[in-house]
Amino acid sequence: MHILGIETSCDETGVAIYDSKANCLLADVLHSQIALHAQFGGVVPELASRDHIRKTVPLIYEALAHANLTVHDIDAVAYTAGPGLAGALLVGASIGQSLGFALNVPTIAVHHMEAHLFAIFLREQSSTCNVSKDGDDAQPLPRFPFLALLVSGGHTQLVLVEELGKYHLLGETLDDAAGEAFDKVAKILGLPYPGGAALSKLAQHGNSERFHFPRPMVQRSGLEFSFSGLKTFALNTLRAVEREEGRVDICAQSRADIARAFEDALVDTLVIKCRRALQQTQLKQLVLAGGVSANRALRVGLQRMVDKLGGITLHCPQPKFCTDNGAMVAYAGYQYLQRGWQNTTTAINIFPRWPLERERLQNQEQK
Ligand code: KG4
Ligand code: ZN
Repeated sequence: MHILGIETSCDETGVAIYDSKANCLLADVLHSQIALHAQFGGVVPELASRDHIRKTVPLIYEALAHANLTVHDIDAVAYTAGPGLAGALLVGASIGQSLGFALNVPTIAVHHMEAHLFAIFLREQSSTCNVSKDGDDAQPLPRFPFLALLVSGGHTQLVLVEELGKYHLLGETLDDAAGEAFDKVAKILGLPYPGGAALSKLAQHGNSERFHFPRPMVQRSGLEFSFSGLKTFALNTLRAVEREEGRVDICAQSRADIARAFEDALVDTLVIKCRRALQQTQLKQLVLAGGVSANRALRVGLQRMVDKLGGITLHCPQPKFCTDNGAMVAYAGYQYLQRGWQNTTTAINIFPRWPLERERLQNQEQK
C-alpha cells in the first residue's frame, strides 16, 4: 500500500510516500518557507497559505517521480488537519480530500502533534528501508506506554501515551511554547527567523557562568510550563549589557553569553519537569518529539537526567524528522488506517486548535 502524506500546517510544505509492504519511505520532499517569512521576522499566515498553494501539487509530482510511481499508484492520502494555521491547513486538506475523491481512495485527517510522535519510528535513508523495526539498529523502539515530551513552535506538552490515540495530558505551557521562546529570544538577539537552531549554535560559544536566568515554575508542584518570562528576562539582560558596553550592538561574546543563559534555563526547566513526570508516572521510556527535539543541549540534558535516574530509556527522533515533514504524516496516516480511522466524509474539515486528547477525527461525525 502506498500512502501519500501531506504536511502544510505552518511554514513547511512536506510531501512523502510511505510503502507499507516494504515498510519504507519511497519519497520524502520538503519545501521550506523560511526565506519567505524571514524578512518579516516570523510566519505571515496569508503568505504561508499562498506558498502552500504554489508548492503542494508540484511537490506531489516530485515525490511521485522520486518514487517512480504515478498518481494512480496511490492507495491512500493522509494530510495534516490540525492543529496549525487555518489557511495553511486548508490547502493540504483541500488537496488531500480532492485527490482522495478523484482517485477513490481513503483519506486520513492526521493530528500534527501525533505525527510528530511517530517521527521516532522514522530512520534516515540507509539502504532501502527507513522505517524501523525492532532490532534494525542500535536504538530500540519505544513500546507503549511511554512518556512523551512534545516541544515545537506551537506546543510544549508532557503526555502519557498509553497507546496510539490514547493520550493523557500531564502538563503544558501556560503561555509561550518552547520553540516560540527560542524564536523570540533569537529575534531579540538579532538572529533571523526561525532562530531556534541559530540561537543554539550561538549558545555553544557562550559562557554559562556569566548570567543566570530563572527556571520558571520549577518551585511549584505540577507539570505546567511558562516561558514568556524568560523572553522578558533575556530582553532586560540585553538592555543591561547595552548600558554596560555603552552601545546597542553589543559584542559577539555578550550575545553568546545571553543565548547560553537562556538555553540553559529553558533546557533545565524541561529536564526538571520530565524528571518529575517520570517519577510520578513510573514510566520507563521518554520519547522526545517536535522541532525543538533537534536541540543538542536538550538531548544531552535529558540523557544525563535519565542516566542518573537509571532504568529509563530516552528516545529521540533522527534530526531530519524533528521539524515538520511529510514522512511523519504519511506514516501516522498508515497507523490510523490500520485501525480503521479513515475519513468517512469528503468534506474539507480542519481543526486549527485540535487537542491531542480530544476524540479523534471529529469530521467523521460531521457528514
Ligand atoms: O515542529 P516544528 O518544525 O513546527 C511546529 O510544529 O511548530 O518546530 C519548529 C520550532 C521552531 O520554533 C524552531 O525554532 C525550533 O522548532 N527548533 C529548534 C531547533 N531546531 C528547530 N529550537 C531549538 N534548537 C534547535 N536546534
Ligand atoms: Zn510541527
